Amino acid sequence: MNRRLALRLLVLACCIAGLAGCSNDTMEAPKLEFTNLLNIPPLLEPTIDQEGRKHFTITMQSGATEFFEGVETPTWGVNGSYLGPTVRVSRGDRVSFEVINRLDEASTLHWHGMRLPAAMDGGPHQMIEAGASWKPYWTIEQPAATTWYHPHLHEKTALHVYRGVAGLFLIEDEESRKLPSEYGVNDIPIVIQDKKFKSDGAFNENVTQAPFGILGNQILINGTHDPHWKVASNRIRFRLLNGSNTRVYKIGFSDNRTFELIANDAGLLPEPVSIDRLVVSPGERAEIVVEFEPGEETLLRSFPVKRDGITHSDFDLVKLIADRSLAPAPPLPRRLSAEPPIDAQHRETVRTFDFTTKSEINGKAMDMHRIDHVIPAGAREIWVIRNRGWDHNFHIHDAVFTILDRNGSPPSAYERGRKDTVFIPSGTTVKIAVDFGRYADPDTPYMYHCHLLYHEDSGMMGQFVIVEPGTENRVPRRLPDRGEAEHDHSS
Ligand code: C2O
Ligand code: CU
Ligand code: CU
Repeated sequence: MNRRLALRLLVLACCIAGLAGCSNDTMEAPKLEFTNLLNIPPLLEPTIDQEGRKHFTITMQSGATEFFEGVETPTWGVNGSYLGPTVRVSRGDRVSFEVINRLDEASTLHWHGMRLPAAMDGGPHQMIEAGASWKPYWTIEQPAATTWYHPHLHEKTALHVYRGVAGLFLIEDEESRKLPSEYGVNDIPIVIQDKKFKSDGAFNENVTQAPFGILGNQILINGTHDPHWKVASNRIRFRLLNGSNTRVYKIGFSDNRTFELIANDAGLLPEPVSIDRLVVSPGERAEIVVEFEPGEETLLRSFPVKRDGITHSDFDLVKLIADRSLAPAPPLPRRLSAEPPIDAQHRETVRTFDFTTKSEINGKAMDMHRIDHVIPAGAREIWVIRNRGWDHNFHIHDAVFTILDRNGSPPSAYERGRKDTVFIPSGTTVKIAVDFGRYADPDTPYMYHCHLLYHEDSGMMGQFVIVEPGTENRVPRRLPDRGEAEHDHSS
């Protein structure tokens, strides 16, 4: 039986068995040749505004991008046609942004992983109408981390991110600067996204296919299809971001080399951890440091992952080709971060979140007017997320957490650091210790949600407000709609 026929039969078998999503993944990843040089998103240069803050201008716009030679794909991006520049700031910086929406519809821009006032968070309540702009500002008050920005429009996040509005937002501090930090030289962003293309080169935008949303068979790294990158240093720090709508990657190298994990989502680990695989679900980040020998080649790959009982195919991500002579990078320090651990003292408030195959959390679909939880500023709480449905993950805004256990067992070596997003496969209960932010605002909620974007859009999201400790019971649990709020104000 030839290969194509075998494949067709497999697709047919899957359809007959009714395995939802299965046919998606029998589309094997096309073989790569690594012809294109990896794009490194440029660093965005700030100006200094009248208040002395670092000021950045971000324009959400539409355009066209040539992922395949001679084929124009209609795309969206930030200050360009696809994805956006990298913002880099230091702990302690005061920053301000003008976010200009040149799209022909409303959107928002959320700072994923940032600790900041709720009104600056860029969630579904901070709408930017078409043609309008939004001017958030805050002080960077958190340790070094690889964070990112992306739209968060209620019920439309999946489409806006899929079209290409997203970028990295790096925070540096004294500890992170001891690591390879020459951006584009030994400090390399790796934004991983899977796409489905139509025969005319346009994105297939069916991002709401139950149960996952969309799974693509083509991979883009930093918006480059079929990429290679020339390694010029003996020690490279890669900042991995899973910027996909729904696909989970199991990262490693084709030669199975070990590498050092130095950071999870929300910052550096206490010390490097040697691993050879790591799983990143949508929205999660990881920083790794990899050693190279002169003249060698290796592939960064995603290995097969089992999800919802289906094994998802493997993908080559980028070919790494080391120069014949490599510049020496500083050795890795033994101690990376001195941040105190986030652990449980057994006096914390415990909240439980149940996920099923329905588009709900705790039996409720997202409601823009409902406040699900009221949390005192600066609180540490224990959140227990129980998944009896499809594979999900869980992200909390304005918070940093560590995983206490997965089904009672310690978390994997690659996810023991500070995080803001956690993968929760079907049948798993994850217990996390969460530190919440300190900006009280009873009127403006933050979000928590599944970061599989179709799930988020279809209702697996909830809202919490942070309030002055002691005022929890005085806070209304319903938000007026904007019209009512304006009316209240004027009366
Ligand atoms: Cu990456 Cu609520 O977002
Ligand atoms: Cu977020
Ligand atoms: Cu989900």
